Amino acid sequence: MRTVAQTPAIRIDSLLSETDERSLAYDVLDGLTRPFKEIPPKHFYDARGSELFEQICELPEYYPTRTEREILHARASEIVERTHAGELVELGSGSAEKARILLAAMSNAGTLRRYVPVDVSEAALEAAAVELVDEFEELNVHGVIGDFERHLDRVPRSRSETPRIVALLGGTIGNFPPGTRRRLLREVGKLLAPSDRLLLGTDLVKDPRRLEAAYDDSQGITAEFNRNVLRVINRELDADFSPEAFEHIAFYDQAREWVEMRLRATRPCSVRVTGLGLRVEFAAGEELRTEISAKFTRERVEADFAAAGLSLECWYTDSDRLFAMSLARRV
Ligand code: SAH
Ligand code: TRP
Repeated sequence: MRTVAQTPAIRIDSLLSETDERSLAYDVLDGLTRPFKEIPPKHFYDARGSELFEQICELPEYYPTRTEREILHARASEIVERTHAGELVELGSGSAEKARILLAAMSNAGTLRRYVPVDVSEAALEAAAVELVDEFEELNVHGVIGDFERHLDRVPRSRSETPRIVALLGGTIGNFPPGTRRRLLREVGKLLAPSDRLLLGTDLVKDPRRLEAAYDDSQGITAEFNRNVLRVINRELDADFSPEAFEHIAFYDQAREWVEMRLRATRPCSVRVTGLGLRVEFAAGEELRTEISAKFTRERVEADFAAAGLSLECWYTDSDRLFAMSLARRV
């Protein structure tokens, strides 16, 4: 672990090192040699990827960000009143736009102490920390640049009796397939003391056209974001993908109730990944899966919680039932 920033109010630790370049290498080696090629979504988020994701969040078609924010605005003070929370741990914090709403409610309640953002994206995390300590003078930020699938045991412990909220927002939980999702929820649950709560944001099952538009916007920003993973592989593993040869695909799988994003080779491509000593062939029309985004019902959330040793305490949704936020405790 390296401490990469330290001011009186901010400390940022990085758990990412060569091991993590290896993690991309292992994932790419596994993923590109499978019969059906696949790359896990966490590799989208280099500095440019995080920036493109911020743009996605503002798109008219991408309703989840707006809707989750709206739920938070309506419910943040109620959540803080109910939990007496003074500390927020956020997994996959990104720009921390939503954290700000919860931190403001804690500040109004007089409980606010600390924010612990965890993200693989160093640039996004540092910018958010600086803005937030400026906004809330009583706030300390202890950020962790790390992978919440591997580094949860390194998340700072609670320093006091202050209850904590551990948040996983933006529908990020939906980016994991069902078994991995339950395993991750169980690991996250281990961060919870009896008075702590998990706050989970989940996108809900709805009209497929609305879902598909959210992942295939008319300005092509999601397409750029999707192709960005090829640029990450080119840079980090010295590969020679031609991103423009790959077409962005997003469709809703009705049976599995998830959106899938893929990149489809528009012509035969022979790609060399020098860093891995690997050559990979794509036939014309061959697809590489880059993300799933599962959609939820209350029943699915409750079943996942039960399987992960958690139990649902409050269910908050918007008036159109597009998105839901769950408050849960460890059983
Ligand atoms: N919470 C924000 C951002 C969601 S985008 C919101 O709701 O708008 C997902 C975020 O999770 C990105 O910032 C990405 O960098 C981060 N992320 C994805 N996989 C991760 C992982 N395995 N470990 C840590 N951060 C991860
Ligand atoms: N967690 C977000 C979601 O599933 C991530 C996301 C939104 C995303 N839009 C995207 C990822 C487009 C890749 C491409 O909704």
